[in-house]
Amino acid sequence: MMKVLLICMASCLLVVNGGDLINRCALAKILHEEDLDGFEGYSLADWLCLAFVESNFNTSKVNENVDGSFDYGIFQINSHYWCNDYLSHSENFCHMDCEDMLGPNLLPSIHCAKKIVSGSGGMRNWVEWRLHCSERPLSYWMTGCHLG
Ligand SMILES: *[C@@H]1O[C@H](CO)[C@@H](O)[C@H](O)[C@H]1NC(C)=O
Repeated sequence: MMKVLLICMASCLLVVNGGDLINRCALAKILHEEDLDGFEGYSLADWLCLAFVESNFNTSKVNENVDGSFDYGIFQINSHYWCNDYLSHSENFCHMDCEDMLGPNLLPSIHCAKKIVSGSGGMRNWVEWRLHCSERPLSYWMTGCHLG
């Protein structure tokens, strides 16, 4: 029992430190496991840059927009189109609660982001990615990360 607890403590610290922040390489590993490397032509470095410019790797980030919608989680997924937060009208294209985009389980955010990036515009749907990541050298985002 104690052993299981210790293993969990060690691995949980590896994945999420400071409560909300996920380590860059830990994120790369999860994205790799979820087959995002090359998904729709975007590299892991693109996804890391996206997560950084959107949330600073804060898995719990919530931000209110001027139109009254909110952006949720590591990829700042918008409540007007993609998830439902029951605060204003939502198209809810991902069929998910925005709440699920928050916290250490990144799978809901990843699944919804896959849907977004599969649509027209791809990653250009994220303004911050377009401004800060697109058409820039990005490979340094993966520096020191071992995926295996
Ligand atoms: C992460 O975002 C949440 C919600 O926006 C905020 O309360 C929290 O302080 C942030 N954490 C860090 C480490 O910046």
